[in-house]
Amino acid sequence: MSDDIDVRACTRCPALCDSRSRIVNGVGPTDADLCFVGEAPGENEDSEGEPFVGRSGDVLDDALRDRGLSRRDVRITNCVRCRPPDNRDPTTEELDNCRAYLEAELDGVDPEVVVALGKVPAEHLLGRSVAVTEEAGTLHDARIAGQSRRVLVCVHPAATLYDPGQRETFAAALDEAVAFVDEEGGGQSRLGEF
Ligand code: URA
Repeated sequence: MSDDIDVRACTRCPALCDSRSRIVNGVGPTDADLCFVGEAPGENEDSEGEPFVGRSGDVLDDALRDRGLSRRDVRITNCVRCRPPDNRDPTTEELDNCRAYLEAELDGVDPEVVVALGKVPAEHLLGRSVAVTEEAGTLHDARIAGQSRRVLVCVHPAATLYDPGQRETFAAALDEAVAFVDEEGGGQSRLGEF
């Protein structure tokens, strides 16, 4: 199934075709219970071809490890699969151009919870403006590609680097996501199995 949800070639966004070295697809099990969605690849992700492998990725990896998990247990992806120039935010048009790929990935993986890492993915998935620090840790029902999905708002891992005060908010949101998956699985969660 992973071949079906990987994007091998795309030329929808001229600026991103110029700025990317490669398309960065999601990683992790194609039946993961938890799916983390970030904004777009940065420099490290662009060079390694994997989401969240820079300093933000270290924060995410540490947080997973603190909960007995690793990136092999969860799906990690982005709203946009190509690095924007100068690490700017993706434009609305770029987010729209890439949306079908994210929707196909969520359809394929069908996670119990989608964790939106930061404002861009939270707003993209919920379709409204989101005050991330205020809403972090809250779970929302969203209709995504005709499917009902549970989206948990979380601060971006990078926020914990700029503002250590956000560490607790980040940790509490992750606890919420893991607890929800554990509850939904009735103690049968696939988290930590691998
Ligand atoms: N930030 C993101 O939003 N996505 C990545 O893959 C890396 C950093």
